[in-house]
Amino acid sequence: MLSQIAREVLPEELRSPHIQALIDDLVSTLRAKDGLGIAAPQVSESLRICIVGKPLTVLVNPVLTPIGDETDESYEACLSVPELVGVVRRPQTVRVQALDRYGKSIDMVWTKFRAIVVQHEVDHLNGILYTERATSTSLSDEARAELLPAAEQQAAPAGSKRQTLVIESPGPVGGRQYVVWTFQGTGRVTGLRIQPGGARVTAAWLSGVRFKAKNYPAGAAERHLLGDRVLHVARGEMLRVELEMPRGKRRIVAEADVDFA
Ligand code: NI
Repeated sequence: MLSQIAREVLPEELRSPHIQALIDDLVSTLRAKDGLGIAAPQVSESLRICIVGKPLTVLVNPVLTPIGDETDESYEACLSVPELVGVVRRPQTVRVQALDRYGKSIDMVWTKFRAIVVQHEVDHLNGILYTERATSTSLSDEARAELLPAAEQQAAPAGSKRQTLVIESPGPVGGRQYVVWTFQGTGRVTGLRIQPGGARVTAAWLSGVRFKAKNYPAGAAERHLLGDRVLHVARGEMLRVELEMPRGKRRIVAEADVDFA
C-alpha cells in the first residue's frame, strides 16, 4: 500500500460516510501518535487524502508546486518507518492546492516546516517514503536505547566530533544485504560495526571503489572491519558495505564511526 500511487477522491464521494469517517480516523490517529502529518495510505486506504498538523489541515487531492529554487536539508521521521530519522533535502516553499474535507478549494503558499511536512505527506500519496529521498538515515534516540546493547551506547568522548551513523537494511530477511552511507561532511571513518553478530562483511566500496575483498567477521563488539586502515571521506562520498546475513535475521544495524574534520 505504501508503495502504490493513491487514486484521486471523486467529488461525489468526498461527502460519503466512508470518506468522512476515514478523515476522522486520520485526524484521531495523527493526534494519538502526536505526529506532524499523516496520509491515507498509512491507514491502508489508497486515496489522495492527507493531513498536515499544527494547525490541522485536511488536504484532498493535493497538488504541490515548488516556488523558487531554495532547498534545504532537515530531519524527517515517519509513523510508517518506525525507529529511524533521516536527512532529506527539499524545496523550502511550495504552493498547495487541494480541496478541504467539504470540497472547498484550498490555495496556499507554505514555507519551511509546513512546506516540508506537506511534501512528505504528498510523497505518501505517490508511493514514496522519505527514506528513498534521504541522504542518510539513523536510529532515533529512543530506538537506539532499545536496540543496542548498553556497551554500544557509549557517548562520544568529550571534545570529540565522532558521530555514529546507523542504517537499517531495507532488504529482505537473511541473505545478501547492503547498507550505504552518504557522508554529510569531511572526516575519517575509524570503525564499522554490524549488528547483530553472525553477519559477515563480504565487500565494501567507497564511492564505487572496492577497498577490501576479504571476508570479515562481525559482531556486536567488532571494531576492526577496516583493519588498520582509516578511511578518509569527503562530503557526498558514499560508503557501501555488503553483508551476508544469517537466514531468519530480522534486521541489520550497521554503524560507522566518523571523526568529522
Ligand atoms: Ni510519513
